Amino acid sequence: MSNSAPAKIILLGEHAVVYGKPAIAVPLSTLRAQAVVEWLEAGAGLHIEAVDLNEVLPVAINAETVDNALALTAQKILKVLGLAPPDALIRVSSTIPMASGLGSGAAVSTAVARAVLEATGTHISTEQLNSIIYEIEKVYHGTPSGIDNTVIVTEKPVYFVRGAPIETLEIGTALTFVIGDTGDASPTKLAVGDVRELVRHQPTQFQPILDGIGGIVAAAREAIRTGDVVALGELMTQNHAYLQALTVSSASLDGLVEAAMAAGAIGAKLSGGGRGGNMIALTRPDNAEEIHKALKKAGAVHTYQTEVKP
Ligand code: PMV
Repeated sequence: MSNSAPAKIILLGEHAVVYGKPAIAVPLSTLRAQAVVEWLEAGAGLHIEAVDLNEVLPVAINAETVDNALALTAQKILKVLGLAPPDALIRVSSTIPMASGLGSGAAVSTAVARAVLEATGTHISTEQLNSIIYEIEKVYHGTPSGIDNTVIVTEKPVYFVRGAPIETLEIGTALTFVIGDTGDASPTKLAVGDVRELVRHQPTQFQPILDGIGGIVAAAREAIRTGDVVALGELMTQNHAYLQALTVSSASLDGLVEAAMAAGAIGAKLSGGGRGGNMIALTRPDNAEEIHKALKKAGAVHTYQTEVKP
């Protein structure tokens, strides 16, 4: 059996979500991490092979210190559930680009966790798996809001508020999004840290921006529920302006956003931590191809498409 998990993309509300504002994110189900279980002879223990690293990388998971995210995930699952390591090899692979804000880390961890559950014949609730993956995210990302793991583990569009119960988004009409990757690697942790400094030192300037983003996301939830695509597009573009004011956009992101809008996108904005990584454009389905072309011409190294359906 293959255990898998999708990539994710944030539609609206990044950064402000760290401060308790809502955010909306959806799974990108065509990009996935997979983990396959192969049984080993008795006494062999549990090993993990990261196929994409192009080398066999057996990881013993009962080591004292675990400095590998995959091994840490396996160890955490076994510890939380009080299980002994099964005699198995877990082969992990992924089609999700790394370090580009699409949640590759959380997806790979989720796939490995599911493989460990399969190998031990154990079932846990989605909530429990989600909280374990969140713990792993914290090790690698500092103070994540938890939105990545929530979308990836549930594989559902979510309206996310930090600390609140998971709320699945109601969708009135199918939405087509085209995503453009700047190709610029940008650690989310740095952008989040910089925003924290701005909010701390200049609250009168930056708190209203966070509040403004919160208002946009609440209005966007309503637009998505009622299928008001034009309103949603406008809200995305306004959200991008707020993210520029938060200093997390970049020349490449702005360039791709402008190119998408010039090619007829209904709305466009950066997505995720910013300063690099991806942007997302809302488009009519019959204009999607134009947006892909425009983004590539403007320098996008990859483009993706996803449909969010009712
Ligand atoms: O860069 P990504 O897609 O992992 O998104 C980060 C989203 C932030 O709101 C900037 C941080 C967070 O933990 O929510």
